[in-house]
Amino acid sequence: EFHQHPKELSLASDGPFGHFDTQQLQRGYKVYKEVCSACHSLRHVAFRDLEQLGYSEAQVKAEAATWQVPGIDAVTGEANTRPGMPTDYFPKPFANDVAARAANNNAIPPDLSLMAKARHDGAAYVYSLLSGYQDQPAELLKEFPDAKTPDGLHYNPYFANLNLAMAPPLADGQVTFDDGAPNDLDAMSQDLAAFLVWTAEPTLAKRHQTGWPVVLFLIILSVLAYLAYRNVWRNEK
Ligand code: HEM
Repeated sequence: EFHQHPKELSLASDGPFGHFDTQQLQRGYKVYKEVCSACHSLRHVAFRDLEQLGYSEAQVKAEAATWQVPGIDAVTGEANTRPGMPTDYFPKPFANDVAARAANNNAIPPDLSLMAKARHDGAAYVYSLLSGYQDQPAELLKEFPDAKTPDGLHYNPYFANLNLAMAPPLADGQVTFDDGAPNDLDAMSQDLAAFLVWTAEPTLAKRHQTGWPVVLFLIILSVLAYLAYRNVWRNEK
């Protein structure tokens, strides 16, 4: 009863006419880059995919180079890092699960590429989770004194277990947007959620665009089939 359903969230990508608001996706990307990427990977997304957010080829090249990806030293053959290229995928923040757990109170930060699909009501869930941290309600502690949030965990009524290993990652004003859009916690959480809808289904707008001509075609085909039927049977009583 203390676990809450996600808050309402409306995005440009909602519904059968939905499309991506690329300005918002760019803001969400910035939040991911400056905050979430310290712990969460985005393994299904390559830098070149950022062109879909409205960046030019040159911008994507420059952007990729601001990231360090795993590489190999050309002389010694040893593993090192190098600046990213458009064809590279977003790098993992931790070398392996052991390192990830060691840094996160024994929890592994999940990959975020498909998070908007993996959780029920995914985008609204991510938005609610990020903006939903709060103190434990007094009634909860009164009813279940043993339910006090353990050290190292954080209370969030949108998380299924109520306590999670992720500390509140975002706070008002943390990321500054180039387009001057609002950067309070609520707005940034929405932008990030919109971005994860895109990472989970980059071809969403295309699917919508393809769907409507298909429906139109089927309607025309039905009319023609009906007229043909009338024509074929016109002399029969
Ligand atoms: C879990 C999003 C930043 C560490 C999660 C989950 C999401 C998420 C959606 C999954 C919750 C679930 O399983 O339902 C984000 C976003 C961030 C961000 C959008 C940036 C705004 C961070 C940072 C850290 C971190 C910076 C590390 C310092 C974790 C950990 C978990 C987690 C350890 C697993 C929690 C558990 O299972 O108890 N995060 N996160 N996150 N995140 Fe983050």
